[in-house]
Parts: sequence; structure tokens; C-alpha cells
Amino acid sequence: MKSTGMEWTDPTAGPMDLPDLPSPEFPDTSPAIRPRSFDEYIGQEAVLSGLKISIEAALLREECLDHILLHGPPGLGKTTLAGLIAGAMGVPFLTTSGPVLEKGGDLVGILSRLSPKTVLFIDEIHRLPRPVEEILYGAMEDFAIDVIFDRGPSARTFRHVLPPFTLVGATTRAGLLSAPLRDRFGIFQDLDFYRPDELVKILIRSAGVLGFSVPEEAAMEIGCRSRGTPRIANRLLRRVRDYAQVKSNGTVTRSLVLEALKVEGIDDLGLNRVDRKVLHTIGTVYNGGPVGVEALAATLQIEVDTIIDVVEPYLLKEGLIARTPAGRRLTEYGQKRISGSGLFLDSPES
Ligand SMILES: Nc1ncnc2c1ncn2[C@@H]1O[C@H](COP(=O)(O)OP(=O)(O)O)[C@@H](O)[C@H]1O
Ligand SMILES: [Mg+2]
Repeated sequence: MKSTGMEWTDPTAGPMDLPDLPSPEFPDTSPAIRPRSFDEYIGQEAVLSGLKISIEAALLREECLDHILLHGPPGLGKTTLAGLIAGAMGVPFLTTSGPVLEKGGDLVGILSRLSPKTVLFIDEIHRLPRPVEEILYGAMEDFAIDVIFDRGPSARTFRHVLPPFTLVGATTRAGLLSAPLRDRFGIFQDLDFYRPDELVKILIRSAGVLGFSVPEEAAMEIGCRSRGTPRIANRLLRRVRDYAQVKSNGTVTRSLVLEALKVEGIDDLGLNRVDRKVLHTIGTVYNGGPVGVEALAATLQIEVDTIIDVVEPYLLKEGLIARTPAGRRLTEYGQKRISGSGLFLDSPES
């Protein structure tokens, strides 16, 4: 069990404590604040309404839910949503991830032990090795896997029939999924960055779960600086709580939030040190760009994947950088941001 990195959760057994899958950039160390029902899942209305209809229809027909692909930047609620889907269907929830399924045998082992209608969640599904991915094709389409014994002329295949199940795949990069895999998902949902007012609701709820309270205006300051991402909002909330504990006997005010976030190196746009380093490097080392992401990663000594998955989506959304066929370049707004005055002025070290 351990070696395949899978973990069982039985949503019918009570409140779900979903395992937190690794996210080196923004670890969410408190699974307790994860929403436990669709009612607690804030925002993403379009995604939720689509999913709820599919779930209700599957329940009415007493069928297994279609396979679902969830796409969006890290920390927007893909893993949470997968667990909620299993909970709403009243079926077991099993999680694993692309990189831990190294060999075909790992996946065959999981698939052949599934109980009927299980929601099998594969995080980072774009990182499944190709031979493992190929096993999924038949499993998803026909609920069967063909196991080959021996090689050459004496090769025989044995068809192993699986119980029907629902695969929920999560990916930060739908473009890296092969066409045959993508085509086998019946439902495709795109998660988008959250608005500050949605993050305020999330923050006020999270503070309640953690046992303290945050006035709305203070939550708004955090919400505006969380890069549209609940995981980051919750992380900053914990830093604010620490700061308040030490500086103001636990009382959180708007000005205390501003002080605490400054200490964290978060600027008025919610950019952190890495974001600013990326902007400054494109601006100064590469004269505003365009620069290829590999060159940028090498200069900054960060992983290409970190730039593409974690840093860049929000900089693009805010219009600070643009992606061109020749690489990334600063926009006019991005230029102003690194060379301007007042609030805009901050060095990569600040
Ligand atoms: N819609 C939401 N409402 C409330 N909290 C959320 C929501 N989406 C995510 N979160 C919070 O953000 C954290 C990160 O979500 P997660 O599902 O792990 O993101 P992903 O799998 O997309 O990286 C969760 O632990 C949860 O506390
Ligand atoms: Mg996740």
C-alpha cells in the first residue's frame, strides 16, 4: 500500500480528513480547514453547478459517475473537490498521484483492488509515465486491463475485468496530457483564480475553524494579497495569527495584517519575493524580454516547472508579463511595476 502512495478515505465513515498531497511551494499543513461539503466550498460556481448535475444524474441512474478532469493552478481546490465528489456520491475515495505510479504494476495493483464505484483520484496526472498511462486507457474506457504474459510467439493476453470506477484526474497543465488520455474524460472542469470577496469568505471560515476571528476589512487585505488562491490565503492567515498572538494578544486588525504581510515579504499586489525576482530578472538581465523559460529558470536557479506552474499563471493574469512565441516579456505594466515609484518600488530582496 505505502509504496504506491495511495490512501483510502471512506467518506461515509464521517467527516473526511483528506490527505494533503505535496505542494513544495505552499504546503497546507492543516487539513482541518478543508471544506467538508459542497456548502463549505466557496466560489467556482460554474464548476460546482456542472458537477452537481452530473452527480445527481448518476445517483438517479444508480450509475458510476463519468471520469472527470480538473484543471487549474496549484492551491485552487482540485484535491478538495475530488474528495467532495466522492462524498456526495457516497463512495470510497482513493488518492494517488502521477509521479508515484512509477510502474504499470503499481497501477494494476490499485485498479484490481478497487471496490465498485470508487472515486480514484490521480493528482498531477500529466506526470504519469507513458506505459502506466496506457494501462489507464482500457481501464477508463472498458473497465478492463489486458495483462500480457511472456513475450514473442508464446505471448498470451489475459483480460482482467475491473469494477466500474470514476477516475478524477487533477492537472496544472492540461496541455501536457496526451490526446488519448484527455479524450477518455467525460467531464472537464477548469478552476479559475478566486475573487478577493470569495477569499474573504474562505478566510473568515478558516479563522473560525482555527478558533480566532478576523474582521472583514482585515480579511479583505489578506484576500487581495493571496494571488487569487485559497491555499495561499490560508497560509497567510496562519502567519497573521502568529503575528497577532505575539504583537497584539491575538487581536487581528487591518493595520496588523498589513504589518504581518510586510514581514512575510508580500507586497501590495500580493507578489512574494520569488515573483518579484522573476519580474526583476526579465526586466534587468533580459532587458524586458522576451526570454525563454529555461534561460529564466537557469538564471534564477529555480525549476522550470515552478515558474510555469506556480509563479507565471498569476503574473500573466495580472498582466505583468506576457507569453510570446519567443518567450516571456514584461508588459508595460510590468515595466512600471519594477521601475516605478512609491508602493511599486521594491527590490528583489525587499
Ligand atoms: N473553494 C474553496 N473553499 C474553501 N477553501 C478552499 C477552497 N478551495 C481550496 N480551499 C482551501 O485551499 C486548500 C488547497 O486546496 P487543494 O484542494 O489542496 O488545492 P489543489 O489540489 O488545487 O492544489 C485546501 O486545503 C482548502 O483549505
Ligand atoms: Mg492538490
